[in-house]
Amino acid sequence: MTCFSSTDESAHYGFSVCMLLSQYRDQLGWVEEGVDELGTGDATAISDVVRALPGLRVRSYDISAPSVAQARANIAARGVADRYTVELGDFFDQADSAGGRPARTVIANPPYIPAPDRDILMPELWGGVRGNDLVLQLLKVGYTDVITAVASYSDPETTVRTAEELGYRVANFLAMGLDYGPYSSEPKVREHIHRLCADGHGWAGDDGYMVAIALFTRDQALPGDRGDQLLCSLQIAA
Ligand SMILES: C[S@@+](CC[C@H](N)C(=O)[O-])C[C@H]1O[C@@H](n2cnc3c(N)ncnc32)[C@H](O)[C@@H]1O
Repeated sequence: MTCFSSTDESAHYGFSVCMLLSQYRDQLGWVEEGVDELGTGDATAISDVVRALPGLRVRSYDISAPSVAQARANIAARGVADRYTVELGDFFDQADSAGGRPARTVIANPPYIPAPDRDILMPELWGGVRGNDLVLQLLKVGYTDVITAVASYSDPETTVRTAEELGYRVANFLAMGLDYGPYSSEPKVREHIHRLCADGHGWAGDDGYMVAIALFTRDQALPGDRGDQLLCSLQIAA
């Protein structure tokens, strides 16, 4: 097992989380409640966000032991261990069993690699056959706000429509084009992405794809209903 590594993708995730937490600071209540995180990786991106936003506390979980070891070292080196904690384990088990008041907001750059099965370069990044299993599972946990990555080739339309059925709106998002990295370039994965897109379950270009970090909310006080804008921005990939 290895630790997830994709500098551009992690930087976009961290920057976008920082923007969205700052823009919706008063509504999301993260100073009082902190936020939960699914999938720490090496923790560099969110460590920088914790440093940039005084008062932010993050409770994170990762199923990869090497990632958790690396994350703890990076968090300590950046001096934010008092506000950024990492537990080894499945987010969904831990979130169920952790006592105390749950946070209102969860952040995630979840696994979204689509493939016929889990036998891929880093199995922890498998997002199911269409790539959106974990984001759909996350939307069903019951958080008021879900800030999550949505990839253009991982059936984003089903993700947005399922979110709407669950009572979420897209308040806002930041989208960026990414080159295929080592995980999405694996031939078995690339062929599967090509098939999914040809069957109408997403969009991808020859050299890259789009990822948006989107804020889904159930809070009626937050303005915005940008689900269709989000889907338009992901189509630019094709
Ligand atoms: C795409 S990486 C993102 C890592 C980091 N947030 C970043 O953006 O750099 C997804 C991470 O989720 C972890 N993961 C996968 N399934 C998980 C689960 N059920 N619970 C907790 N972590 C999980 C993987 O091990 C991986 O480190």
